[in-house]
Amino acid sequence: MFSKAIYAARRKQLAELLKGQKGIAVFIGNAEAPAQYKDNCYKFRQDSTWLYYFGIDEPRFAATIDLETGEETLYADDVSIDDIIWMGPQPSVASRAAEIGVAASAPYSKLDLVVSAAIVKGRPVHTIPPSRYYNTLKLQSLGIDKPSEALIRAIIKMRLVKQPEEIVEIDAAGVLGQKMHTVARKGIRPGRIEQEIVGEMEGVTLAEGWGISFATILTQHGEVFHNHGHDFPIVPGKLMVVDAGAESNSHYASDFTRTYPTSGKYTAKQRDIYQTVYECHELAFSLIKPGVAYRDVHLASCRHMLENLKELGLVKGDLDDMMELGIAGLFMPHGLGHNMGLDVHDMEDLGEDLVGYDDDQKRIRQLGIGSLRMARRLQPGNVITDEPGIYFIPDLIALWKKNGTDKGHVNYSKLEEGYLDFGGIRLEDDVLVTEDGARRTGGTRLPASPDEVEAAMAADKA
Ligand code: GLY
Ligand code: MN
Repeated sequence: MFSKAIYAARRKQLAELLKGQKGIAVFIGNAEAPAQYKDNCYKFRQDSTWLYYFGIDEPRFAATIDLETGEETLYADDVSIDDIIWMGPQPSVASRAAEIGVAASAPYSKLDLVVSAAIVKGRPVHTIPPSRYYNTLKLQSLGIDKPSEALIRAIIKMRLVKQPEEIVEIDAAGVLGQKMHTVARKGIRPGRIEQEIVGEMEGVTLAEGWGISFATILTQHGEVFHNHGHDFPIVPGKLMVVDAGAESNSHYASDFTRTYPTSGKYTAKQRDIYQTVYECHELAFSLIKPGVAYRDVHLASCRHMLENLKELGLVKGDLDDMMELGIAGLFMPHGLGHNMGLDVHDMEDLGEDLVGYDDDQKRIRQLGIGSLRMARRLQPGNVITDEPGIYFIPDLIALWKKNGTDKGHVNYSKLEEGYLDFGGIRLEDDVLVTEDGARRTGGTRLPASPDEVEAAMAADKA
């Protein structure tokens, strides 16, 4: 947890952003979620907005802030002797409230009464979209079916700009994620099963942190984006996409991707595509600075990708036309990156468009850029991912060919001759926008260029 002063200052800033709003803001932390039955739960993960403003990493806490009087109340139940038998003695709710600078506390059930009283008096009740069904049901039971855009916007405004103490945590999660990736790289050898590497890699973060920041992607079918099956033996000559990150004990995320040649050396064809992804990755990083729209960074990266693919003979024609038609979407049907912080896709539960877009940047409905989660103009303190990729997705290629989507710009015969079993390549680092540019978060950067990756794999074997 951070200090009491930090949580109190965040709530004060939130109240200031909501100045002039009537009613109360309600925050509901997560409850335990049974995996099979009530007493066998998933590992507890607190709601991220709750963590940001209230810090208490325990189930069944809630809070209200009266936007007119500034009064704050924490709701939870003190433990009974039954609880003490199973959980040991726990701090009182009043003492937990004092730890985070909240003056008043009350039993959990009091929340229902406070919300009902506000509704009866016609006072607005401001809530955010719950990240869990339990909380959706709880809000419905309180008669609340619509979140407050004013509250959502104020929270996004604050959480988009990471504070110095958050950056320390994001760097630490980065170091842990990089340790995971190093263990994964050292483990890649033909004959082993993918799952063995996943286990070794996830063990690293479990030993030092909370766990993984999202379900690990480790696959020789990188063209399948969120491929969570890990039961294949590693075969020589393939590409292994490893997209994984750590969640620290303070619940900050990291998210890195590297693509390794399973034999330790890229084939000439793999190296050409890898080099292109690497150049797009470096180009994007070089463009990141305050005032630049991340959408433009995505587009610059796509343009460079098409230039190189044209040189390789995979696409043809005028670059401006290809950009207009969104040809890059055939090869990279995802966005360049997303915000990252307490969530690996930070605040996505609050609404992707509200988080990643604003009046200045509207979503473009085109394959690839249509999935861009962060398009805004960058500000110092933003933490984003830079994750270009190139994929050869046989079904998508066949569909574009059938529909003529590319308007003659794609060289299908070359793709069909040599790329349908290629897989995919992605590279990803996490980036902090600074006052005058950017820096990658974490510790020592993972090997990224094709030469660096091959040298590291050779050194691993030596
Ligand atoms: N690294 C996984 C994702 O961004 O979806
Ligand atoms: Mn990512």
